[in-house]
Amino acid sequence: MIAIGCDHAGVEMKKAVIEALSEKGFEFKDMGTDGEPCDYPVIAEAVCGLVTSGECEKGILICGTGIGMSIAANKINGIRAALCSDSFSTKFTRLHNDSNVMCMGARTLGCGLACELAEIFVTTGFEGGRHQRRIDLVSDIEARN
Ligand code: RB5
Repeated sequence: MIAIGCDHAGVEMKKAVIEALSEKGFEFKDMGTDGEPCDYPVIAEAVCGLVTSGECEKGILICGTGIGMSIAANKINGIRAALCSDSFSTKFTRLHNDSNVMCMGARTLGCGLACELAEIFVTTGFEGGRHQRRIDLVSDIEARN
């Protein structure tokens, strides 16, 4: 199960991502917005809560630039959110950072690219090994601050 959410800027892109990945068998919990203007931190917290509780294995967040969603999501303990706009970074943030939330900008990317990046994100596994040590160091920073 994938948690997904957007603010008013990302409604069309969110629909496109849900449609494209549903066709490939993925299921979604959509935390809004359906179109009404809203504040991106509220949606970020709702989506990330489903990830940290274990109800959803990953999250996808869309706002105008993806930046506000990334900032908000990365305030939440246990969330490693990556702003994704190219396939290499999207693949490697899964392989090396074990990112559990991806953020995208609806005003910076086309829907076709967003769907492709979302598929890479949800189908690429974590490499583990030396990268786990680095993630643990990131968690230590979280615990100290
Ligand atoms: C909303 O207009 C816009 O500020 C928001 O979608 C996002 O880009 C913030 O980072």
